[in-house]
Amino acid sequence: MTGARGRFIAFEGGEGAGKSTQARLLAEALRARGVGVVTTREPGGTPGAEAIRALLLAPPDAEGWTPQAEALLFAAARADHVARLIRPALERGDWVVCDRFVDSSRAYQGGAGGLGDDAVLALHAFGSEGLRPDRVILLEGGEDALAARLSGRGEAADAIEGRPTSYHRKVAAAFAALAEADPQGFARLDAEGTPQEVHTRVLAALGDLLAGAGA
Ligand code: TYD
Repeated sequence: MTGARGRFIAFEGGEGAGKSTQARLLAEALRARGVGVVTTREPGGTPGAEAIRALLLAPPDAEGWTPQAEALLFAAARADHVARLIRPALERGDWVVCDRFVDSSRAYQGGAGGLGDDAVLALHAFGSEGLRPDRVILLEGGEDALAARLSGRGEAADAIEGRPTSYHRKVAAAFAALAEADPQGFARLDAEGTPQEVHTRVLAALGDLLAGAGA
């Protein structure tokens, strides 16, 4: 890449949607085209943000964080991640493929958590100058299929994953509403099928951005 800013792609969706697998497959496909790629995730991605991740997913206090403190911690982790990793990579001309970004805060804390979209967007404006992905890939699937994938992983649920089904339904509805409100910014894809089948959908959803990318 010569001098052009890289593209920023975020994968979003509920638990078990296959975001990490798809982020990895996309990064491999981009590298095969000669594109420089940074893969990362939220909460996390830098040492500071990973330290905040540990606080969020296993709160030191048994009562957990208040909704406001939780939203601030996600925004603080994101501010460090954007300033230290994401913006420098984009400015170098690399693509950034991120497993979750601010739309997770909008869906979980803003929607399901009840803080509202304006509050989350205000934190993002302050923390990260409102950085938006060039495209958000929203992976959506039936509740049963995603739950089956999760139980197949055999990991204990973290503080957020372990919230009731009603919370996760609100998350899914909030993601759908965000995507409906911004059809240019979001590609809603069916998360069901083999990883390769979903990967083919991801490449098709990025066709316009991929045209002209790479060596
Ligand atoms: P993680 O293990 O990264 O999620 P996944 O289940 O997708 O592998 O854990 C992150 C958890 O944090 C997940 O439950 C979603 C939640 N989360 C928020 O509530 N708000 C946010 O802004 C982000 C980035 C994640």
